[in-house]
Amino acid sequence: MKFYVLTLFPEMITEGLSHSVIGRALKDKTIELEVINIRDFANNKHNSVDDYPYGGGAGMVMQAPPIYNAYLSIKDKLGEGCPVVYMTPQGRPFKQAVAEELAEEKEIVILCGHYEGVDERVIEEIVTDEISIGDYVLTGGELAAMAVIDSVSRLIPGVLNKEQSHIDESFSDNLLEYPQYTRPPEFMGRKVPDVLLSGNHGLVDKWRREKSIERTLKKRPELLEGANLTDKEREYLNKLKGE
Ligand code: ADE
Repeated sequence: MKFYVLTLFPEMITEGLSHSVIGRALKDKTIELEVINIRDFANNKHNSVDDYPYGGGAGMVMQAPPIYNAYLSIKDKLGEGCPVVYMTPQGRPFKQAVAEELAEEKEIVILCGHYEGVDERVIEEIVTDEISIGDYVLTGGELAAMAVIDSVSRLIPGVLNKEQSHIDESFSDNLLEYPQYTRPPEFMGRKVPDVLLSGNHGLVDKWRREKSIERTLKKRPELLEGANLTDKEREYLNKLKGE
């Protein structure tokens, strides 16, 4: 999987993704990243890439030609149908299912906007998908692009080790993760639940599923509609709801 990122702030991306799990995956080339500085494609002596909006109003708008030329500089390397994703609060909401869909691609181009926006014509010309990471406005698309790259990358085989990749199953199941504990067995008078010390894997699994259901009901009840529960688990959920 290779990510191409078109941005005015390349260091944000390269630095932000150079640590921990993703940093290691980049180092050993399990995933690849090419960051293209849109400013390198400004064709004026001041290197400017933005201008006042036609029709007036506050702020500046990123111009179409530098973005288009940045895209053209990589276009020949891209396979047929490679998605070009524009990070914007107007995009489709980013969910685990979207990360799973993108993880099927061989390469993805991500366009990060800044200032008040991007000239609509270059979006029409090159963008195939728009993604939002939530209903709030960031100062630019870079943090959003990093969130997408991080969550897509961890689905690529070899990025997580076997133990880590287990963790995924819970969200794909539409259930929140159960609570985790490690040593010491007692902290500030709070004890680790006995069942986790019992050595009975069957009981531990049952307890964890029940805690997942309990937490999801408490924190994100709307997720439960899409959850895959056994008859017994559904009974448990109804009991929690007092039905
Ligand atoms: N750019 C600015 N805000 C954003 C958001 N919420 N999601 C994706 N890209 C953005």
